[in-house]
Amino acid sequence: MDQRDPTGSLFFVAIYYSDNNIMAFVLPTHEIHAGSEGNNSKYNIAHQLLFQTPLFEIHIDDIDNRELEKNIYKLRDKSKGVLLSNRGGWHSDIQSSHPHNEHQLDDTFKPLIDKIIEIIYSLPFEPILNSLDDISIWANINGKGSYNATHNHPGCDISGVYYVKVPEGDCGNIAFHDPRPALFGNSLIVDRYVGGGVIPRYPIEGNMYLFPSSFSHDVGMNNVDDDRISISFNLRVR
Ligand SMILES: [Fe+2]
Repeated sequence: MDQRDPTGSLFFVAIYYSDNNIMAFVLPTHEIHAGSEGNNSKYNIAHQLLFQTPLFEIHIDDIDNRELEKNIYKLRDKSKGVLLSNRGGWHSDIQSSHPHNEHQLDDTFKPLIDKIIEIIYSLPFEPILNSLDDISIWANINGKGSYNATHNHPGCDISGVYYVKVPEGDCGNIAFHDPRPALFGNSLIVDRYVGGGVIPRYPIEGNMYLFPSSFSHDVGMNNVDDDRISISFNLRVR
């Protein structure tokens, strides 16, 4: 099933707000025809997918990753970093556009922030986003043996990761966890719709993944000798 190319009619859902304004959003619906009566089908079945979780994968080929890599190592020389979800490796201080944040945005991140701003308003949200209010961003250098424990990013809307350097071999996949724990053991849904309770995605240099900040994920251990380098970020949007 290709969820990027829903066929059939669209299904409207009304959301009622307390002030009695009604806002509708569009839910892709797959129309199925079943049974037969002569040349006509007997039943029209509207196949709706509720509680979908978007994951966007974007390849960016015009960031100078070697320059970015050099600047991230320079940042590491200036700061011992922080311990959050990282187990081993180096996680920079979290820099933010918020005026009260102790760590303001370093120029290192400018090339990626420019791309985020360029891309974010094109995401197929309905209604589309009209404001990026705050960005927090940090760099990760994951050497051999380091990994990230399962976590999510509370207090923001969209999170993302961009891969600056990805060495050959098993250097650690990001894996997303089904946000609906009640599905555990429901093989009909898990096997046919989801493909498992944990879905890996592979690091590729120049790739960015964007996902809801509430989406739990982990990063596997880097099992090669070279560093994997990434930049992660949180966005608050309207
Ligand atoms: Fe994360």
